[in-house]
Amino acid sequence: MSFFDARRAPAVVKHGLLRRYCQPFAYKAGSRTGGRVTFLDGYAGAGCYEDDTPGSPLVLLEAAKRVSPSRDVEAVFIEEDPATFSRLQEVLDTRCGGQKYLPLAGDVDEHLDFVLRMCHDRALFAFLDPFGPALSRHRLQDLLRRRAHENLPTDVLLHVSVRSVWNFGSRLTKAKRERRPLSRQDEAFAGRLDDFLGAGWWRSSFEEAAAAGPEEGKPAAIALRLAEQYAEEVARQTGYLAISMPVRRRPQHAPIFVLTLFTRHPDGAWLFADCVGHAGLDWEEAWRDAEASKEGANGQLGLFAPGNASIFDREDYERNHSEKWIGIIRDNIDGLLERFQPLILQRHVVEVYGATLGTGARETHVRKAVKRLHEDGLVDHDGKGRSMERAEMFRPARYDSSTLAG
Ligand SMILES: C[S@@+](CC[C@H](N)C(=O)[O-])C[C@H]1O[C@@H](n2cnc3c(N)ncnc32)[C@H](O)[C@@H]1O
Repeated sequence: MSFFDARRAPAVVKHGLLRRYCQPFAYKAGSRTGGRVTFLDGYAGAGCYEDDTPGSPLVLLEAAKRVSPSRDVEAVFIEEDPATFSRLQEVLDTRCGGQKYLPLAGDVDEHLDFVLRMCHDRALFAFLDPFGPALSRHRLQDLLRRRAHENLPTDVLLHVSVRSVWNFGSRLTKAKRERRPLSRQDEAFAGRLDDFLGAGWWRSSFEEAAAAGPEEGKPAAIALRLAEQYAEEVARQTGYLAISMPVRRRPQHAPIFVLTLFTRHPDGAWLFADCVGHAGLDWEEAWRDAEASKEGANGQLGLFAPGNASIFDREDYERNHSEKWIGIIRDNIDGLLERFQPLILQRHVVEVYGATLGTGARETHVRKAVKRLHEDGLVDHDGKGRSMERAEMFRPARYDSSTLAG
């Protein structure tokens, strides 16, 4: 399998996002806990892939090393599968000597209380990245609430497996249409989804689609909506902000998972959106390179041979798309100014980015959008300055929206 295999694009996005976000998290959140930070990788895997590409444990430990002059980072890795755990230990021992880490064999659920006690005076960044349904909703909400109650900086980056929800949803709708019960295996899987998503509520979407007929609602689209609803509900019930990036293999494919960040800090949400923009470019690069590599592997003239430089020119891509991104963001902010005055961008991250979230658009494009609005006399902020996202923005006094009506 070539490095640029199509299956790698989602992993490239995941690790790029992790790499970009956890380091500033350690700086920012660690400043509130005397520099003490814990990175928890709850579904750690083997540490790196067979071709030596770093997996999440190495990505987290690389970040820990970079911040080590000013931050005391402890990393905890939990892995349930015994063979994978042995490999993880070996990878950590050979590559990460001298760093502070604790590998724990077994189920994340069993170790969680111990880990929470360990980091009772530390900022916590938890990465939960299972193959299918993850930690139960009840456990996740409890963790978020407890840490918020103790005022401890806590961010959770959760992989929500849309594919496992949609696979199950397809089987559920088929069984409903054929008026037969689910198999015992499917019932058991539904129980795991109930634990993860919260009991019951999600099933009705598939049942309604089954009743409405085959054209009504594709399971993949329903599953994506459920993942988004789940994130919104968990955020609402715990007082956190949620910001999500759907990840697909190719542009024409449905998302296979959603990466959702739960954070209480608007700085975290703002920064994450910027990281998601970079991750969007990582994804463009990864899938295009995978296509080019596949053409080469099929015996045709590939655009490049694996190992050569990427065919993707980020700057060129950005030049070709930034006008569109800025235009969309400009309109989003203009709309927000009709509803909120003062407008503080950081409080409306998802609405500010709108359809551009995860496509490559980043803070720099938001600044340009604000600058355009300022040039048009529609906002009193010029888009400059270090804390633009925290500034109170208003319509200039002479502006009256009613004069534009019609
Ligand atoms: C998607 S892989 C992790 C990949 C890794 N996070 C990375 O990015 O390199 C999921 C891992 O979680 C492990 N796992 C599954 N259920 C688990 C559980 N309940 N507790 C801990 N580990 C679990 C699996 O054995 C598998 O190695």
